[in-house]
Amino acid sequence: MNSRYTDLAMDTREFITHSPEETIALGWTLVELLTPPKIVLLRGDLGAGKTTLVKGIAAGFRAAAEDDVTSPTFTLVHEYRGPAANLYHIDLYRVDTPRQLETLGLDDLISENSVLLIEWGEKFPRFVRERDLEIVLERVSENERRIRLISDRG
Ligand SMILES: Nc1ncnc2c1ncn2[C@@H]1O[C@H](COP(=O)(O)OP(=O)(O)OP(=O)(O)O)[C@@H](O)[C@H]1O
Ligand SMILES: [Mg+2]
Repeated sequence: MNSRYTDLAMDTREFITHSPEETIALGWTLVELLTPPKIVLLRGDLGAGKTTLVKGIAAGFRAAAEDDVTSPTFTLVHEYRGPAANLYHIDLYRVDTPRQLETLGLDDLISENSVLLIEWGEKFPRFVRERDLEIVLERVSENERRIRLISDRG
């Protein structure tokens, strides 16, 4: 395990979900943690449940219906505006170079009332440095996921 996860300066919370519905429900509960502005890295393998979790977060923010939240695989950025925050769901899986990243103009999305939810953001050191919260999802079995919240303690 990466030693920074066990660093005493870090605060870690762990959940196990047993279905996509439970992961969505967990997303709803994360809303209170995600008061804007925030940059959140969603980490985990393909199919770990990152996008599924965003369905719950976006619904919890009253920014989108769960079913309307789909993977930004090709569009790279999906925007969901809610009364309390503008959510940006970003997928950097297909973004490889700093130049490609630059063309997305993500800097323009960062504002007082924005929450950036970034899949595959750990590919870029910039987001590892700037992130407020990291959510790590691991496949335990077909329907089980271990979901850990990692944030620096201020
Ligand atoms: N407990 C669970 N939580 C979340 N998803 C689950 C769970 N159990 C099974 N699944 C299934 O795992 C898949 C998760 O897909 P999802 O698109 O959320 O993954 P992802 O991490 O965003 O992958 P990608 O990197 O390809 O975008 C879905 O097919 C979902 O139905
Ligand atoms: Mg995804």
